[in-house]
Amino acid sequence: MAEQTGKKQVLEEIEDTIRTVGVLTSGGDAPGMNAAIRAVVRTALSKGLKVRGIRRGYHGLLKEEIIDLSARDVSDTIQRGGTILQTARCQTMRTEEGQQKAAAICKKYGIDALVVIGGDGSFAGAKALSNLGVKTIGLPGTIDLDIACTDYTIGFDTAVNTAMEAIDKVRDTSTSHERCSIIEVMGRDAGYLALWCGIANGAERIMMPEEKSYNEEELVKDILDNKKRGKKNYIIINAEGVGDTMNMAKRIEEATGIETRATILGHMQRGGSPTCKDRVYASTMGAMAVELLCQGKYNRVVGYKDGKFVDYDIQEALSMKKEISEHQYEISKILAI
Ligand code: F6P
Repeated sequence: MAEQTGKKQVLEEIEDTIRTVGVLTSGGDAPGMNAAIRAVVRTALSKGLKVRGIRRGYHGLLKEEIIDLSARDVSDTIQRGGTILQTARCQTMRTEEGQQKAAAICKKYGIDALVVIGGDGSFAGAKALSNLGVKTIGLPGTIDLDIACTDYTIGFDTAVNTAMEAIDKVRDTSTSHERCSIIEVMGRDAGYLALWCGIANGAERIMMPEEKSYNEEELVKDILDNKKRGKKNYIIINAEGVGDTMNMAKRIEEATGIETRATILGHMQRGGSPTCKDRVYASTMGAMAVELLCQGKYNRVVGYKDGKFVDYDIQEALSMKKEISEHQYEISKILAI
């Protein structure tokens, strides 16, 4: 009996041992994803593990687009924007059938553990794979900063700096012409990019999806008051999803008589060489993902909370909520006088 229990234990340990780690990027790309991939690859290799890269996120996994990755395959990538593995959004991975197929493919390719770099939707896929026996770790990768379990997401720092620099340029011409400028930033349903740019660019008005009420009459009055106060421009940072930026500009011009121009920054915010912070934090998170797996921890998401790198159970991470800082929003209004 004791011998049998011993054998069972040994078998469980062997089954539990990770030999091959897979890595994929999923959802919108974000600067710093390459630094995270590189860290996963090199940390895993340093621990004697094999690494497989999956192209085009879960979509590529379902199509078996799987390649071996060596230390040299990730050379010269830490400074590059985008993701060398490519990425995709995959509806099939939301279905039970898709998830089962994905788990079976991982098993077929000997992928015992998978590091998923993406947002909440990607983590839901990772959780499903965990339930089906593939050990997963999620790394927060999105320019939107909209993942509740973390104060930092890979790519936000680069994107917000890119947007800030672009808005500075719009401001120069806006001041010269004494215009009102409405600049649309990304962020999907979250206003973090808008709020940070609003403060960093000294905007007169920040419009965020989290804002409960939007009153265009009040905005028009404020633009006119602003002119009376001697200001030479009026910068509005508009988070995508809050009204139609182009039409809003037309309406504001008509109502105020002040020339108003709209700029939609668009996908340029997602590109470019990652900042130092994105490179360092993404590298730390990538290495940490492999360290967790080697400690026998999986079904976890790595985050950065209150100045520390931490990890949470995926379900716990997915059920967390975070709110945009009311305090910072209030500060932005005071600083705009
Ligand atoms: O999630 C990142 C993001 O850039 C959002 O800010 C934006 O709403 C969305 O992706 C755009 O998606 P796509 O690249 O598919 O147009």
